[in-house]
Amino acid sequence: MDDFVLLKRFIEQTLAIQCSNYKEDYIKRRLLSRMRSTSTTTYEEYLRYLKANPLELENLRNALTINVTEFFRDNEVYEFMKKDILPTLFGQRDRIRIWSAGCSTGEEPYSLAIVLSELIAQNPKLSAQIYATDIDKVVLAKAQEGIYTPKAMVKLSESQIHRHFTKLPDGNFQVKPHLKGLIRFRPHDLMSGVPVSRWLDLITCRNVTIYFNEKQKDELAKMFHGALVSGGYYIMGKTEYLGRQVDSLFTPHNSLQKIFIKKD
Ligand SMILES: C[S@@+](CC[C@H](N)C(=O)[O-])C[C@H]1O[C@@H](n2cnc3c(N)ncnc32)[C@H](O)[C@@H]1O
Repeated sequence: MDDFVLLKRFIEQTLAIQCSNYKEDYIKRRLLSRMRSTSTTTYEEYLRYLKANPLELENLRNALTINVTEFFRDNEVYEFMKKDILPTLFGQRDRIRIWSAGCSTGEEPYSLAIVLSELIAQNPKLSAQIYATDIDKVVLAKAQEGIYTPKAMVKLSESQIHRHFTKLPDGNFQVKPHLKGLIRFRPHDLMSGVPVSRWLDLITCRNVTIYFNEKQKDELAKMFHGALVSGGYYIMGKTEYLGRQVDSLFTPHNSLQKIFIKKD
């Protein structure tokens, strides 16, 4: 068995990540990046390093899952948006602005757009603009294209698929123009400031800060605080947390779902 196969087997057994879910080229690129960081030069050497350094396992997990996303990831967050956050915001103004920061291949902003378009359909005087950004231009191009495999669609209902996607001859699904029309995609490094004009109503920055150090995370929270309207919402990933230096800037609104409201 060759060393790459041995390494994949070790990853599957230890990290419970199914390598077959990814393209081989993608796995190799991520492994090479970790090999550069650990000054190892062959798969065999890196495997030995992994076994001897348990901390590297977490680095590898983060490297492999860096672009991982899905439609309606943590569905309870979207349920909460539908029932609580969006009705509150639309109670204050007819047009709202949302930023999906670190949107990867687009499933997050399209899920937001699905929820919004269903609310707007009930009350056409409402409207919304979603800004979706990511540092990685390759995933952003995929997001803009908006084509997904049937496997990626499992969390969507039949009626959502029917309303918002077109089935292509090859069996994949493409997002319909009315959904795309709600979103503006653009490349952006979160470390470089806010990419749009201020006074956003909602910022989702979920599962993005895994590589950021504490100082960078705090700076990000301060930047989001400055970009939100008074009473605006900041939603983090379920495993992320607000640093002590910045927790006075926000009031927890739903602690389980990591939803915060800007304090003035
Ligand atoms: C794991 S995905 C999360 C996607 C989505 N937010 C979700 O929760 O499903 C993390 C994304 O953050 C992006 N990212 C990482 N560092 C970034 C940075 N400094 N600025 C903007 N995006 C960044 C990555 O390119 C990746 O697409």
